[in-house]
Amino acid sequence: MRDVAIIGTGVTKFGELWDKSFRQLITEAGSKAILEAGVSGTEIDALYVGSMGSGRFIGQEHIGALVADCSGFSHLHIPSTRIESACASGGLAVRQGYLSVASGINDIVVVGGIEKMTDVVGSEATNTLATVADQEWEAFFGATFPGLYAMIATKHMNDYGTTREQLAQVAVKNHANGALNPNAQFKREISIDAVINAPPVAYPLGMLDCSPVSDGAATVVLCAAEKAKKYIDNPVKIIASGQASDTLALHGRREICTFDSTVHAARMAYKQANLKPKDIDVAELHDSFTIAEILAIEDLGFVKKGDGGKAIDNKITTLDGELPVNTSGGLKAKGHPIGATGVAQIAEIVAQLQGTADQRQIKDAKIGLTHNIGGTGASCVVHILEAM
Ligand code: COA
Repeated sequence: MRDVAIIGTGVTKFGELWDKSFRQLITEAGSKAILEAGVSGTEIDALYVGSMGSGRFIGQEHIGALVADCSGFSHLHIPSTRIESACASGGLAVRQGYLSVASGINDIVVVGGIEKMTDVVGSEATNTLATVADQEWEAFFGATFPGLYAMIATKHMNDYGTTREQLAQVAVKNHANGALNPNAQFKREISIDAVINAPPVAYPLGMLDCSPVSDGAATVVLCAAEKAKKYIDNPVKIIASGQASDTLALHGRREICTFDSTVHAARMAYKQANLKPKDIDVAELHDSFTIAEILAIEDLGFVKKGDGGKAIDNKITTLDGELPVNTSGGLKAKGHPIGATGVAQIAEIVAQLQGTADQRQIKDAKIGLTHNIGGTGASCVVHILEAM
C-alpha cells in the first residue's frame, strides 16, 4: 500500500440547476479540479464516477464512458468506471480511486460524483430514491426515505429522550453554515420554530428536517503521495478509508438507532489511521435527515450512544464548537445531489485542512473525517484526511 494524496478539488453550485445539463455539471466540477491539480489528460490513469440513479433521473446510463467522453478524454481511452452505492456512491467512488492508487496500479486518478435530480417531478424523485431501499419489504409497502428515518427518529426519542427541538437544532446549525457556503443550495438561516412548524413530511420530521432534492457535481484528483508536491504545495493525504455494509431493510437490524455499518467503517478507518474519535478536528457527516446527524456523531464515537441530542444542545458541533460538523452546510443546506455528496464532503474537508474555507474556516484544523451513508445505513464509507 502506498500513501495517497488529494491534489485538486472542484465543486459546482448545488441546487435546482435547470439551466445546466448533466454533462455541463460534471465537466465544470472536473475542469476545476484538474486545473487546480495542474495535471494533463495524458497523465490521468483512470476515472471513477459516483452516480446513483441517472437512468431514472435523466434516462442515461453508461455514465463511466459518458463522463470520459464529455470531458474530452475519449481519444485517450482512459479506463472509466461508474460506482453505485445509493447515497454513498460518491464516497465509494473516492474509496475505489484511493485503493487503485494505494495498490500501485494507478498514479493519478480523477474521481467525480454527480446527480441531476430535478429534471423529474418531485414524486418521481421520491420513487427513484426509494429504489435503493428494500423493494420487497419497504418500498412495496409505501415506505420512503423520510418515512424510514422518521421511524428511527421516533425510536431515538423514545429510547434516549431526544427532543423535537434537538432534531430542529441540527437543521438550524447546518443552514447557518450553508449561509456561509457560496455553493450551497440554501444560503439562508432558519429558526427552531421554522423547523418545527414546517410542513410535516413523516412525523416527527418536517420539510426542514430533510435534505433537499438537488443537482450538482464534485470532483477530486488523487495522486500517489510521493509525487503530490510536484503538482501543488499543499496536498492533503487520505490516511484512512473504511467501508462496511448491513441489511438492506431496517427490520433486519439488531437495532435501528445504531447504524452498524458506520460503527464498522469507522473502526476500520480509525485503526488504519491509528487515531481515536477525539483526534478529529472537523467532520462532514451524512445528515440526509436531522436524526441521521445525531446517529452519526454517536456511531462514529464522538459521543456515547444516546447523547447525540445533548451534544447538539451543548453546541459541540457548531463552527466554534469542540468538533465542528458539516461546516459546508451538510446535505441539509448545501444540498444532496446523491452521487456528488460523498465527493463534495471530501472537497470540504480538503478546504478546511488547506485553510481555504473562507468564512467557514476552522482554526488549526489538521485532521478531518468524512462519513457517507447509503440508504438507511446499508452502506457506509468513512475517510480520514490529514494536511501534508
Ligand atoms: N429544505 C428546505 N427547503 C426545501 C426543502 C428542504 N429539504 N425541499 C424543498 N424546499 C423548498 C424549495 O426550495 C421550495 O422553495 P421556494 O418555494 O422558495 O422555491 C419549496 O420548499 C417547495 O419545494 P418543493 O420542491 O415543491 O418541495 P417538495 O414538497 O416537493 O419536497 C421534500 C420537499 C422534503 C419532500 C423533498 O425535499 C425531499 O423528498 N427530501 C428528501 C430527499 C431524500 O430522501 N434524499 C435521500 C436521503 S437518504
